[in-house]
Amino acid sequence: MDTIKLIASTTAVFSSKQAELGSGLYVVNCASCHGRDLRGTEGGSALMGDRFLDKWKEKSIGELFELTKATMPKTNPHSLDDASYAALLHSFWK
Ligand code: HEC
Repeated sequence: MDTIKLIASTTAVFSSKQAELGSGLYVVNCASCHGRDLRGTEGGSALMGDRFLDKWKEKSIGELFELTKATMPKTNPHSLDDASYAALLHSFWK
């Protein structure tokens, strides 16, 4: 029982830290085109809202991960490590 509680609380801490990390990376690497609030700008599409979620709900997070890694940041793809891309994508769904 205690073990389960411990795991549950550790996981929660980990994922909120991951989301935080994701949003810091986001501001530095992505916000200039996708907007600080994920709503998009003239330079990049929205990474939230119905259109984005509808488009991706049929696909897997793995596909989104591969696409993001291969194409983003648009000016410098592949410039982050896997953990950073994962944290970024995680932060879009928090
Ligand atoms: C220089 C501008 C620019 C930057 C910086 C940038 N993006 Fe993008 N992003 C775009 C554009 C433009 C598109 C639309 C598709 C395309 O042209 O490749 C896009 C598309 C996307 C998509 C697909 C959206 C969809 O509707 O399917 C994702 C996910 C994404 N970007 C994530 C990121 C992440 C994460 C970062 C930071 C690591 C980032 N982008 C940085 C310009 C940018």
